[in-house]
Amino acid sequence: MITRLSAPHHEELWRVTDDASGLRGYIALHSTRLGPAAGGLRMRAYDSDEAAIADVLNLSRGMSFKNAAADLPLGGGKAVIMGDPRTKTPAMLRAMGRAIETLQGRYWTAEDMGMSPADMAEIARETRYVAGLDSGPFASGDPSPVTAQGVFNALKIGLKQRYGRDDLSGTTVAVQGLGHVGWHLCRLLHEAGARLILADTDAAKLAQSCADFDATAADVTRIHATEAEVFAPCAIGGTLNATTIPELRAGLIAGAANNQLATPEDADRLAARGILYLPDYVANGGGIINVAAEILRIETRAPWVAARLDALGTTMTRILAHAAAKDASPAHLADTIIGERLLPRAG
Ligand code: NAI
Repeated sequence: MITRLSAPHHEELWRVTDDASGLRGYIALHSTRLGPAAGGLRMRAYDSDEAAIADVLNLSRGMSFKNAAADLPLGGGKAVIMGDPRTKTPAMLRAMGRAIETLQGRYWTAEDMGMSPADMAEIARETRYVAGLDSGPFASGDPSPVTAQGVFNALKIGLKQRYGRDDLSGTTVAVQGLGHVGWHLCRLLHEAGARLILADTDAAKLAQSCADFDATAADVTRIHATEAEVFAPCAIGGTLNATTIPELRAGLIAGAANNQLATPEDADRLAARGILYLPDYVANGGGIINVAAEILRIETRAPWVAARLDALGTTMTRILAHAAAKDASPAHLADTIIGERLLPRAG
């Protein structure tokens, strides 16, 4: 059953339930002004319906900004399933697929936390409005290498702005999180001659990455305070906060993690310390560009993705230039510049 609820500042909010499979979840469409709302499906053990609703609304708004920053003809949406991902069943996923189908293409889903390409294939049995598939004519597969390429491009733009050079040889980068994106970012940085200091809560991944990239390991609780020009958060959100910011020694923050700032005020804390912060949803937009090629059924994937990545770099350059001119945080400038793309056109 799919039931419409009201939500401030969002176009649509739906509760999705299915007694037979035990599915309970939500779908939020923040904005379809630029195109169909696109954003992943997350499964998480929320404490309450209120917590699930707050998350889906916040995440769908974030997708509007991320898609607009990447200049994609897509709006912002998101879906959540309440529950531990280990309790996921095919019947649950198919019920969510049927709910997505009833929205008739106003919302497109893909993987987020707790979901895999195999899960997307299950959903695809009920709806065509699903991306992030491993096989099929437009399948986009793992977006992480493209996300890493976008972060790498952004990092070089930031390096130029903060340190006046874009040559990475001899530059030290501290990378937090060596997962799908972090590992590929390390590969690109290593190839460009950067010196790497790495941390991950997974000891095996840390050891492997240090061997792969001739890198030094750091304590996972102190990686943010490493002596380095660049700090790259590529693990979890909220790692830039009132506790960690005073301890940072890097002059540039360039990473893939979503929601790196614990609060909006943390952008001002970074600016006050002269630390250049690259807005996360612009830096990590490569992943959604990769998924968009599947949603939009792009025939010439590689050049299309490359052109969008270039455009994302131009947007980052513009945001940093405006921020420098106004002596403001790039995070706030990004919200203003990208927010304008989401406003209804006059006339
Ligand atoms: P992942 O789950 O593959 O990798 C995360 C890594 O961080 C894991 O190796 C994990 O052990 C490590 N980790 C977890 N907590 C940590 C901590 N406190 N300190 C150090 N390491 C820790 O995730 P993935 O796909 O690489 O994504 C990384 C970040 O980038 C996430 O925040 C994700 O939301 C974001 N992102 C990912 C995209 C993609 O294409 N995969 C696209 C856009 C954003």
